[in-house]
Amino acid sequence: MKRITTTQLREIPKKGSKIVMVTCYDATFARLVDESNVDAILIGDSLGAVIQGHDYTLPVTVDDVIYHARAVARGCSRPHLVGDMPFGSYQISKEIALQNAIRLLKEGGVQAVKLEGGEPVAETVARMVEVGIPVMGHLGLTPQSVHQMGGYKIQGRTQSAGERLLRDAKALQDAGCYSLVLEGIPAQLAAQVTEMLEIPTIGIGAGPSCDGQVLVLQDMLGLNMGFTPKFLKKYAELGETTISALNHYAEEVRGGLFPDAEHSH
Ligand code: KIV
Repeated sequence: MKRITTTQLREIPKKGSKIVMVTCYDATFARLVDESNVDAILIGDSLGAVIQGHDYTLPVTVDDVIYHARAVARGCSRPHLVGDMPFGSYQISKEIALQNAIRLLKEGGVQAVKLEGGEPVAETVARMVEVGIPVMGHLGLTPQSVHQMGGYKIQGRTQSAGERLLRDAKALQDAGCYSLVLEGIPAQLAAQVTEMLEIPTIGIGAGPSCDGQVLVLQDMLGLNMGFTPKFLKKYAELGETTISALNHYAEEVRGGLFPDAEHSH
């Protein structure tokens, strides 16, 4: 089966549907996503928190994203694959950014890269697009700027912040982004951006008017049990299911019920 392309992804909202994306970091979950109706996978730098146990995404490296992207690419053949550009991999210079984006495509097997920021990264985006690398933008609550934002706070609440975000969104579209993630902004602002742009917006904590939605897989499956922000809907409680399965296993091993004859050679 052929992977969903950037063109096909952009067509989805034009046909009246929504782009559905999740994060994924390994082959086991990638196989499950492949079997589902989800359109796209983001190998997000959220892997810093979800997989590596850090408080922030800042420590994640290009090598980390490539490692996880390769695992995901081996596990699925249908979903569109986007690799996140981690902190420090695109801010220093256009050349370094280009080198890292090329590595994500060549070594990680992704079809596109995602990076955070607006007008200040527009030239970098344009350079990548010029050489044939599709770029997904990311505005609003941009986790790589956590220290500048003073924590993970909803962005774009004031009129001037909203206007800046609209300018940033336009700059990213003009630079050639094929889609744009809007994270942690008021629903009304996300609706305005979506209305203004020709490229699709993909929301997370940005209300119902975006052209698509992305969630961190472990969060929406209920595996990250203590994490309950307002924007998150849990579609399963796999954390509770996992603990209960582990306890059942421990009980049977200790009680001499497992392994039994049926599970022995
Ligand atoms: O790294 C990530 O998972 C992301 C999404 C939350 C958009 O950037």
